[in-house]
Amino acid sequence: MSLTPAFLDELRARTVLSALIGKSVKVTKAGREYKACCPFHNEKTPSFTINDDKGFYHCFGCGAHGDAIRWMTDQRGLPFMDAVKELAAAANLDVPAPDPRAAERQQRANSLHDVMAAAAEWFVAQLASSAGAEAQQYLVRRGLSRATIERFGMGFAPDSRGKLRAALAKFGDDMLIEAGLLISVEGKEPYDRFRGRVMIPIRDARGRVIAFGGRILGDGEPKYLNSPDTPLFDKGRTLYNLDLALAASRKSGRVIVVEGYMDAIALAQVGIGDVVAPLGTALTEQHLERLWRMTDVPMLCFDGDSAGQKAAIRAALRALPLLQPGQSLQFITLPQGQDPDDLVKSGGAGAFERLADTAEPLVDRLWAHELASGPLATPEERAGLKQRLNELAQAIQQPDIRQQYREEYRRRFDEKFGWQPRNTAPMRQNAWVPQGTGQRRGQMRGGGKGGWQPPLPPVRAGTLALAQGGVEAGFSRAILEGLARFPACIAERAEAIAAMPITDRRDDALRHILLDIAFSSTKLEPQAVATILAEKGLHGIGGTTSSDKGLAFSFLRGKADSGRARRELIELIDALSERVEIATALGDADRRFTAMLDEASFAEQQRLRAALQAAETRLADLVQDAGSGQDGV
Ligand code: UTP
Ligand code: MN
Repeated sequence: MSLTPAFLDELRARTVLSALIGKSVKVTKAGREYKACCPFHNEKTPSFTINDDKGFYHCFGCGAHGDAIRWMTDQRGLPFMDAVKELAAAANLDVPAPDPRAAERQQRANSLHDVMAAAAEWFVAQLASSAGAEAQQYLVRRGLSRATIERFGMGFAPDSRGKLRAALAKFGDDMLIEAGLLISVEGKEPYDRFRGRVMIPIRDARGRVIAFGGRILGDGEPKYLNSPDTPLFDKGRTLYNLDLALAASRKSGRVIVVEGYMDAIALAQVGIGDVVAPLGTALTEQHLERLWRMTDVPMLCFDGDSAGQKAAIRAALRALPLLQPGQSLQFITLPQGQDPDDLVKSGGAGAFERLADTAEPLVDRLWAHELASGPLATPEERAGLKQRLNELAQAIQQPDIRQQYREEYRRRFDEKFGWQPRNTAPMRQNAWVPQGTGQRRGQMRGGGKGGWQPPLPPVRAGTLALAQGGVEAGFSRAILEGLARFPACIAERAEAIAAMPITDRRDDALRHILLDIAFSSTKLEPQAVATILAEKGLHGIGGTTSSDKGLAFSFLRGKADSGRARRELIELIDALSERVEIATALGDADRRFTAMLDEASFAEQQRLRAALQAAETRLADLVQDAGSGQDGV
């Protein structure tokens, strides 16, 4: 091995330039950059700036300019190899063994960059020429603005086997082949790789073109053709749009991964710039590590089809062994059959941001995936689920996180399938009373009247529905059904409906559609609502017969007194949202008590436990009343 461009990039990326320079001169933060008095010339007011994102320093006074390596050679006076060694040691990187041809390769990489820059320029000129008319139309038809086309440097490769070769002849065939621009086959003339395609330059973290993606105009195979791996381009390490996303992501504090580079471009066009895409490969460990250097919990937003969802799970599994405290993934699930490009085309940036707000943590995504991956009707099937959940946890290398996953999945499994007395599930532990105040938790053990039991695990609003499994889902499903039949109730309780903890994707979609309908349409006839829902792919909801067999609410029955039905519906919504509110507050109280172990937080916790029990009872009463009234109406 030698000092490849990839290695040097890694070295630059791992070096925080302002910190490095800060060892020798005093630097101060100025907005997104750092400032210092220039060490290369004599000055009293600072004109020397450091940009950590780009990894460059620049002096507006004397023009001194460079990266971390340049700093070490020019300011510290080290030879190139020593500079690299010192930076590598600080960054915990192994320097590859010296290679006599390293310098030559470096030289060659430099000229490959020239080739790629020249090719990009030529493709842009082709797009602007008369030969590019059809490609221009294609881009316009896709909804790409002139500004976007320019910003992403899009071009066109004419449908010819030799035009690029001729235009870039000064670099020579060997160089063009090495750059992946020509294809060479034994005994034949080398010919242009990209023909009759829209050309999208793929840039590295520093914004230099290192490869191209070519999209066919309209239909045809392959739809996309990417550059092969070259000395400049390593698919397994490259993320499309990384250079622009770095800055956007620093502002937003997040980074989103989409499947296609056209998706990244479409999102950027509507102002969502913190987006990158792999290049037709699955997410690799190197990709994940790169993303984790940008933010603790990158967001994956793969296409809403089975291929996209498989890719998301594959990425989730790849991430498990690499998890670190605080460092994870989250997932956005797109509507069936859509990709991010489709979504913002129909719903704008808002549609995407709304979905992003509901991103699912890794632990939930995998749980939902395993639950959905097969029937769970028999003991064997359920044991299979348990085993798969254990295996997921087992794949985690970090011991604390592994332990957390194991416990979390065990708890969820037990709560879903374990034995539970009816209607008292959240009240399992209320039989202990601590003796006096100010005691440490350990001393209480065994001292209470009913024997010490650990406090309930903290409950988050988001996990409540999961923790309560079918019960909660049954209620919210019944409410949604009821709202579809009595849409006038939606506006009456919109806030509570919006806050219901729904984890089922389809129910969540249904909830949003109902809220939209209530606020956008005047014709609120149940039949009209049923039609809208059917159009959105939610068949059989809001019709005259209910799909729910378990709950006997009047608002779910075909022929119910509508006054009573609406009253019951509102009552159920109120009871459920009250319970959710109390359970959330109790979660906080549990956490506070665990942290403080004082009398005030204990009292608060007990008060909320009692309140939760009352709310449970109220819900149970509602269910019972509905059942007993069934034959009477
Ligand atoms: P998609 O087929 O999802 O692309 O491929 P898309 O973004 O929806 O494209 P449009 O909207 O139809 O133009 C996603 C990614 O997979 C790689 C490309 O990197 C693409 O961005 N891919 C896809 C290929 O490399 N080759 C192909 O033939 C197809
Ligand atoms: Mn698409």
